[in-house]
Amino acid sequence: MKKTILFLVLGAIMSSGAFTTFAQTDIDQKVEALMSQMTLREKLGQMNQVSGGAELSGMAAKGEVGSILNCADPAQINAVQRAAMEKSRLRIPILASRDVIHGFRTIFPIPLGQAATFDPAIVEKGARIAAVEATASGIRWTFSPMLDISRDPRWGRVAEGAGEDPYLDVQMGIAMVKGYQGEDLSDPTAMAACMKHFVGYGAAEGGRDYNSTMISERSLRNTYFPAFKAAADAGAATLMTSFNEIDGVPSTGNKWLLKDVLRDEWGWNGMVVTDWNSAGEMIAHGFSRDLKHTAEQAVNAGVDMDMMSFGFISHLEELVAEGKVSEAEIDRAVRNILKLKFELGLFENPYVDEKLSEKVDYAPEHLEAAKQCAVESAVLLKNNKNVLPLDKAKTILVTGPLADAPYEQLGTWVFDGEREHTVTPLAALRNEYNVIWEPGLKYSRDNNTSSFAKVRKAAAKADAVVVFVGEESILSGEAHSLSNLDLQGAQSELIAEVAKAGKPIVAVVMAGRPLTIERDLANCDAMLYSFHPGTMGGPAIADLLKGKAVPSGKLPMTFLRDAGQAPFYYNHNNTGRPCNGSETLLNDIPIAAGQTSLGCTSYYLDTGYGPLFPFGYGLSYTTFKYGTPVVENAELERDGVLRVSVELKNTGKYEATEVVQLYVQDKVGSVVRPVKELKGFQRVTLAPGQVRNVMFELPVSELAFWNFDMEYVVEPGDFNIWVAGDSASGSPVGFIVK
Ligand code: BGC
Repeated sequence: MKKTILFLVLGAIMSSGAFTTFAQTDIDQKVEALMSQMTLREKLGQMNQVSGGAELSGMAAKGEVGSILNCADPAQINAVQRAAMEKSRLRIPILASRDVIHGFRTIFPIPLGQAATFDPAIVEKGARIAAVEATASGIRWTFSPMLDISRDPRWGRVAEGAGEDPYLDVQMGIAMVKGYQGEDLSDPTAMAACMKHFVGYGAAEGGRDYNSTMISERSLRNTYFPAFKAAADAGAATLMTSFNEIDGVPSTGNKWLLKDVLRDEWGWNGMVVTDWNSAGEMIAHGFSRDLKHTAEQAVNAGVDMDMMSFGFISHLEELVAEGKVSEAEIDRAVRNILKLKFELGLFENPYVDEKLSEKVDYAPEHLEAAKQCAVESAVLLKNNKNVLPLDKAKTILVTGPLADAPYEQLGTWVFDGEREHTVTPLAALRNEYNVIWEPGLKYSRDNNTSSFAKVRKAAAKADAVVVFVGEESILSGEAHSLSNLDLQGAQSELIAEVAKAGKPIVAVVMAGRPLTIERDLANCDAMLYSFHPGTMGGPAIADLLKGKAVPSGKLPMTFLRDAGQAPFYYNHNNTGRPCNGSETLLNDIPIAAGQTSLGCTSYYLDTGYGPLFPFGYGLSYTTFKYGTPVVENAELERDGVLRVSVELKNTGKYEATEVVQLYVQDKVGSVVRPVKELKGFQRVTLAPGQVRNVMFELPVSELAFWNFDMEYVVEPGDFNIWVAGDSASGSPVGFIVK
């Protein structure tokens, strides 16, 4: 019987023509049949992921590589694949992978900007488009979404995730997984997703990349795990371990994380890959003695594939012989890898049509979606006297180092987006206005102010000034931490200089993180924060400035007055001495003030308590009025569903979309609970004067948390609920869970 299955399976694998006959053969059986043919060496080859292209064909022919990364050339991917399919003993296909983080060719806004849309549908569409383009070049596995909660904007990688809030992170993570993978992994346009970086990477001490983290188990479970659990439940095919250690244990060697939680508790059966040499880096951490030791620890902890440490391929044979790693562990890893390759249909369809990408990349509908996403991701932070939209201005001065910087506006982690295809704000605004163009500064770190006088003169001739400031792409992303978050170079001085012309000044900030822009806000009439908006950032911003589109983005991270406030997030626990809003600031402290005379509450003497802008904040060209939330059923059983509605009215002059946000507070818990937690949001579009009753239904089960006994439960008691336009607005209404 066994032999017959084996024969059928190998027949199916090797003769693609005959494959459909056996298409129903269960993948697990195919995997087992194939594994029974494999030598230990061939198994270790599958567990080895190597960076490169056609030059890896020799390794592929010998069965020494299971996956390649960093090659986006379909001809090269096919060449390696041919070596694997035609020359290797068992003809196991190679899996080509890539960091397709916010688009492949058509670049969407950075993930933090995408989170600001509060629109999972456009985020899913963006991921689908990324998959369609990347798979057309032969890439079937992306290292995205990044699900790391990040509460410290000094960390450069805040750009790559959804920001500080677990609920928003969950929604964005699910949307991306669905978009990348589509309905069925075997579809040639499906790209396996990779949840990363498991886990706690965003909590790096001081925002310094790769740094240690101290996260309690409860905090992991309540804050850092939820997006991974949700993405795992949504079917994410793979997971990447993180570089950091938590409480002394590097994630790549953490059995509790990778086996006890991920496999045993969550029942997830995908494939685990290390981050780039994160196994090897356990030596620098001081957790492993040498490369051989790293392989032993990583595989025994539950890692399946090694990205670029070469410890697995070099040492696992010895480790198995010595009995330090069991064959069962190796088989587990290889099973997970082969299962994915079968699910992706690589055995039947190993090659990519080398001409396909020409037809697919930058398709008009891809550009249109990227533009819509960029429109929705821009957050209006200030609009004094409604200077925006600039619908009446005829001549505008465009200035600033980010106005015509096609590479910089794409943002971090863009390997395949091409600057020639980027439309900058300068180019797009020229279609709308008579544009005077004076860059002022060449790049964001430029300190040369010698052309400022020219800029000011030009401002005098314009009806309005739009100044594009922010960060070059290289200033955010991996290993790009900053301790000072002010605008770099002389950008703040440029804004102050043009402000002297007495014309309406609009600042557009294109950046990878929340910058500390308080003094710049004071020097402009309006500010639009567009993050790094991608390929179509220019047309999106032009539409917003002109009033053809209305801003609807909301901040996915708290904006600070000063980097010294970091980490700062709205959903924190309370102190025993919360600041009551009557803080005495530095300049108001009497000389020789008594030690306790300032009231002894929790705030900074210089910046005060609050942030510059709270999580969820964002203005519109119109105004929205919220009614008092009405709770339909204020006493609930634990299996009940809370129904709360609020009347929302568009009280301004523009049709516009508001992101209505639902926050909850569990007032007393067996452990201290956050002061507020986002539990729902809806994008609601209203015409001027239109009123809508916005209804939320919140299952009480969603109020569960990991309590004192480390059980995931809803604790009965009093709760508060807010329905508002940001995390700091609205008044609470109570309800009770019995
Ligand atoms: C990053 C990962 C990335 C990997 C592969 C690492 O440096 O931390 O996020 O997927 O490289 O490029």
